[in-house]
Amino acid sequence: MGICLVKGQWLWLYSLLFCVVMNKSRALSADGEALLSFRTAVISSDGVLLRWRPEDADPCNWRGVTCDPKSKRVIYLSLSAHKLSGSISPDLGKLDQLKILSLYDNNFYGTIPSELGNCTMLQGIYLQGNYLSGLIPSELGKLQELKNLDISSNSLSGNIPLSLGTLANLAALNVSNNFLVGPIPFDGVLSNFTESSFGGNRGLCGMQINVTCKNESGGPSMNPSSPNSGQNQSGKKKYSGRLLISASATVGALLLVALMCFWGCFLYKKLGKHDSSGLAMDVSGGASIVMFHGDLPYSSKDIIKKLETLNDEHIIGCGGFGTVYKLAMDDGCVFALKRIIKLNEGFDRFFERELEILGSIKHRYLVNLRGYCNSPTSKLLIYDFLPGGSLDEALHERSEQLDWDARLNIIMGAAKGLAYLHHDCSPRIIHRDIKSSNILLDGNLEARVSDFGLAKLLEDEESHITTIVAGTFGYLAPEYMQSGRATEKTDVYSFGVLVLEVLSGKRPTDASFIEKGLNIVGWLNFLVSENRQREIVDPQCEGVQSESLDALLSVAIQCVSSSPEDRPTMHRVVQLLESEVMTPCPSDFYDSNSD
Ligand SMILES: Nc1ncnc2c1ncn2[C@@H]1O[C@H](COP(=O)(O)OP(=O)(O)OP(=O)(O)O)[C@@H](O)[C@H]1O
Ligand SMILES: *[C@@H]1O[C@H](CO)[C@@H](O)[C@H](O)[C@H]1NC(C)=O
Ligand SMILES: *[C@@H]1O[C@H](CO)[C@@H](O)[C@H](O)[C@H]1NC(C)=O
Ligand SMILES: *[C@@H]1O[C@H](CO)[C@@H](O)[C@H](O)[C@H]1NC(C)=O
Ligand SMILES: *[C@@H]1O[C@H](CO)[C@@H](O)[C@H](O)[C@H]1NC(C)=O
Ligand SMILES: *[C@@H]1O[C@H](CO)[C@@H](O)[C@H](O)[C@H]1NC(C)=O
Ligand SMILES: *[C@@H]1O[C@H](CO)[C@@H](O)[C@H](O)[C@H]1NC(C)=O
Repeated sequence: MGICLVKGQWLWLYSLLFCVVMNKSRALSADGEALLSFRTAVISSDGVLLRWRPEDADPCNWRGVTCDPKSKRVIYLSLSAHKLSGSISPDLGKLDQLKILSLYDNNFYGTIPSELGNCTMLQGIYLQGNYLSGLIPSELGKLQELKNLDISSNSLSGNIPLSLGTLANLAALNVSNNFLVGPIPFDGVLSNFTESSFGGNRGLCGMQINVTCKNESGGPSMNPSSPNSGQNQSGKKKYSGRLLISASATVGALLLVALMCFWGCFLYKKLGKHDSSGLAMDVSGGASIVMFHGDLPYSSKDIIKKLETLNDEHIIGCGGFGTVYKLAMDDGCVFALKRIIKLNEGFDRFFERELEILGSIKHRYLVNLRGYCNSPTSKLLIYDFLPGGSLDEALHERSEQLDWDARLNIIMGAAKGLAYLHHDCSPRIIHRDIKSSNILLDGNLEARVSDFGLAKLLEDEESHITTIVAGTFGYLAPEYMQSGRATEKTDVYSFGVLVLEVLSGKRPTDASFIEKGLNIVGWLNFLVSENRQREIVDPQCEGVQSESLDALLSVAIQCVSSSPEDRPTMHRVVQLLESEVMTPCPSDFYDSNSD
């Protein structure tokens, strides 16, 4: 099954759910809703949550879920080691019959939700081996049934709350390998535990670990909100909190849809050999090729014949919108074919009109759409093939090094392409999905923006389920995550993130940022607050010029400003890049109409 069959099924399920809801007024139990909300906050996984189907009556057969057989209430949630990434939804607090919560050895980040204090039946909490940060919620002290609490090997900070001492049934406790500080309370059950429960926290002191506490004025402070270890965390906490909450609230569901697509594609590429007739099936039975501006010097028949020969071996990439194939014609010309499985018959004519507009947009820094094939089952878009692949690959996968001039040149090209979309083409286009995998490189490492217009197009087709892949996460402006509304300024933000990615050589949600509870923008803000912003630059990058670096950083800082009004327009960005960043060098700036 190809990528978008997965997506198609998902949408189909949605419509089914809709029917069921219409017929029965309510399908899924409240526990099920809480779990869907949990899933929404998970932005990637190994696919374990794929079969959590909203149209089920209860979640009792979902993977990782166990219910009480009589009441059908959820009593165990057990999803350890499934590569789950994202935040832990506070809605787990609604599972008030939950006895075991086992999410260890995943990639969860954000805080431990204090709402878990509502799950008063909890006997075991296993969250070890994640990237959880922030404080241990004192609400855990409400869990009087709790026997086992393991939150070791995370990035938790602050004090150990006094309330944990009241957990009379606690038989096993492990908070080791975190960044906890302060005196370990010697109250109640907490006096039972030793070194092996608290080790690996360099800031802790207390009898349990034979470390005497320095006598600070006021004595041991058990206030969990007290500042910890003198480290100023206000900026970081505020940021990550907002990021996670807003993201999980609005974009999460969308991410999920796209994610399933992404995994579908991934599995397809990795394992799938059973669908090699897919393209042939697409084009047999009434496909027609539409070409723009005589851009393709072949007959429809030639192209269709070629399409029929494409199979898995020709796949060069997968994305949120579909699978990309390399299409080599007999005359030696090569194109990239993007296959988007059709979801909705009715939108055909609309889709075609939009594609025609996209096909009419030609610019030196945009990937040229040459034509498309309209088959009964899919849309096949034919683009220029760019031999340099994507910027994402160039930065993160290939070993070749991009030097300073190459990086500047790529940033410049991306800026010009985007500025053209925003300001100079008609109709103006908001890209909505600016990220390094959508910046392609030609043989001379010149950048071209790809996939413009598709986000909008597919959103409309899928009745407002935006297609955003997981990889997009770090690029989204805060207000976009809250409102879901794209503007030119949300593109400018994504562009700013892209600049930081090019400078640092790190993905926006690189593990080294996540570990600190940050993403790349949070890291930049931190460095700026310490006046160390130059340190963001990739140490491997050769030929850095500090003057243009400072100017470029200043542009990036403006672009990723949290308030959209403070961000410059792309026109302004191009001006700034040309006048302040690039070493002055008269006009390589022209808009071409073809290559
Ligand atoms: N015109 C092209 N020339 C060469 N390679 C391409 C071309 N278009 C896409 N690719 C390759 O295919 C990959 C997937 O592209 P695609 O645009 O479908 O996905 P994406 O950019 O990762 O995500 P999204 O679909 O959300 O934009 C790219 O990363 C790139 O490696
Ligand atoms: C937790 O309980 C409190 C008080 O009973 C309630 O106000 C709150 O909504 C609950 N939270 C969740 C997530 O269930
Ligand atoms: C923990 O300490 C309490 C007294 O505070 C004691 O009753 C209990 O048996 C101890 N539990 C364990 C597991 O040692
Ligand atoms: C706590 O977890 C660490 C690993 O993080 C482990 O080495 C240690 O043995 C555990 N301690 C207890 C008491 O289970
Ligand atoms: C702490 O000190 C006591 C005696 O003072 C000793 O028995 C115990 O082993 C020590 N524990 C650690 C972890 O050093
Ligand atoms: C700790 O400090 C307080 C005052 O802040 C003082 O009264 C007390 O004697 C000190 N204790 C020790 C052991 O130094
Ligand atoms: C933390 O930093 C912010 C600004 O970055 C500042 O306003 C605040 O006073 C600082 N707080 C502490 C405790 O240092």
